[in-house]
Amino acid sequence: MAQDVDTAVNAADTDRVRALLRDNFQPQDHEEAQELILGALQDVQHLLGWVPLWATRLVAEHLGVSENRIYGLLTFYADFRTSQPGHHFMLLCHGTACFVGGSQNLINELRDHYGIADSETTSDGELTVQVVNGCLGVCDLAPVIQFDHQNYYGKLDVEKFNEAIAEVIRQGPVENHHEAH
Ligand code: FES
Repeated sequence: MAQDVDTAVNAADTDRVRALLRDNFQPQDHEEAQELILGALQDVQHLLGWVPLWATRLVAEHLGVSENRIYGLLTFYADFRTSQPGHHFMLLCHGTACFVGGSQNLINELRDHYGIADSETTSDGELTVQVVNGCLGVCDLAPVIQFDHQNYYGKLDVEKFNEAIAEVIRQGPVENHHEAH
């Protein structure tokens, strides 16, 4: 199940967002404020790894723009993440070699066993998945997944796939993995 609740606001994060806006976004007039919205949202996402509802309110308040304008931009630009990412981020390759090797079985397993589809997060907040239709560049390992922008697990069948997920979750959350892009 996708996790899209705006979790409890962390006071330290609120302070960081306020400081970011204060230090970098000081529009002279309304027109300039409009132009700064996108950059402010991008910086918030870089800082937090996603754009929570409370942060969009801070941006709107700080720039003196409407929240609707901000939601419009968040919806229009697919790169914005408006739900909290899981502790671990999985790329699941669905390119040609991985497809031939059975990546669809892994996608089905995510749906049936973990309750998530592409771009969703498990309800326990452990895992976010992104299905990649290109190639991760390690076809020798097909079908392959990558965790947290670093570790590859390859030649997967459903059983090995579940073991890999269990192992990564057992290792605990990775700090700031969203900034590793
Ligand atoms: S197609 Fe999956 S790594 Fe190349």
